[in-house]
Amino acid sequence: MSQYIHGTTDDREIARLEKQARWTAPYAFRHFDAAPDMRVLDLATGVGAMAGQLRRAYPNIELLGVDLSRTQLAAARRNHGDVNYVRADATHLPFRDAHFDRVHCSWFLEHIPNPVAVLQEVRRVLKPGGYCHFTEVDNATLRLVPRQPAVDEVMNALNSGQIAAGGDPFIGPKLRGYFTAAGFAQVRDFPTVMEGNEKDLTAFRGLTDEFADIFDGLDESLGPTWHERLKEGAAAMRALPTLPGASMYYRAQVMQGFR
Ligand SMILES: C[S@@+](CC[C@H](N)C(=O)[O-])C[C@H]1O[C@@H](n2cnc3c(N)ncnc32)[C@H](O)[C@@H]1O
Repeated sequence: MSQYIHGTTDDREIARLEKQARWTAPYAFRHFDAAPDMRVLDLATGVGAMAGQLRRAYPNIELLGVDLSRTQLAAARRNHGDVNYVRADATHLPFRDAHFDRVHCSWFLEHIPNPVAVLQEVRRVLKPGGYCHFTEVDNATLRLVPRQPAVDEVMNALNSGQIAAGGDPFIGPKLRGYFTAAGFAQVRDFPTVMEGNEKDLTAFRGLTDEFADIFDGLDESLGPTWHERLKEGAAAMRALPTLPGASMYYRAQVMQGFR
């Protein structure tokens, strides 16, 4: 089983991350702002998918993406060449104190064993008055009506795999404490509800698709014995909007820490 639960940087995973970023941006940017010429860091930028969304939303900011993975950064440089990139570990950023106006970050702290160390480093590189903005998971909040045992099975495997790799798929409600421990004087949280039901079938399908795509991509890290169960989980997820009276609920956590 590979260490990183979402596998390596192949074309399928890049396409998934790009689609996820297009879908995440309206939620993630709802409480984010940046003025022209501000210095903005996209931390753990991966293949640059959210950096690309930041560039579209804020064409005149000075945008820098940082990631530890050479292969992810190579894809970022290929696909989002209008952003600058630096390879670095988020716990040892190669920037002077008070360098950035904003630090943006999505779906990262859930994968690492030392979120407070990262947040301390983020606080160090922020200017006084600047803020960091994180979007993170809380997989304990996922609720499907009617329940889908095939989805439960895949989610349990995903969560266990992520924990075994040193991450925390239930990090959302712990973030406020982590931000405070890292020294942020002011912390704001925005519980970000994603709901699907028959009132808006397009949005419902968008939400189920996001999860089904994640399930499809887990075959690499969970291994061949999971192939059929992943397919069943993804199919059950995609079929949910077709069931009478069906609904889905998920709550991500958007957190800001002000320096
Ligand atoms: C789930 S991806 C998120 C990518 C991107 N933020 C997005 O929303 O598409 C997590 C990223 O964290 C990176 N990463 C893991 N540990 C890191 C560390 N210590 N420092 C910097 N990046 C790290 C991985 O290489 C991966 O690209």
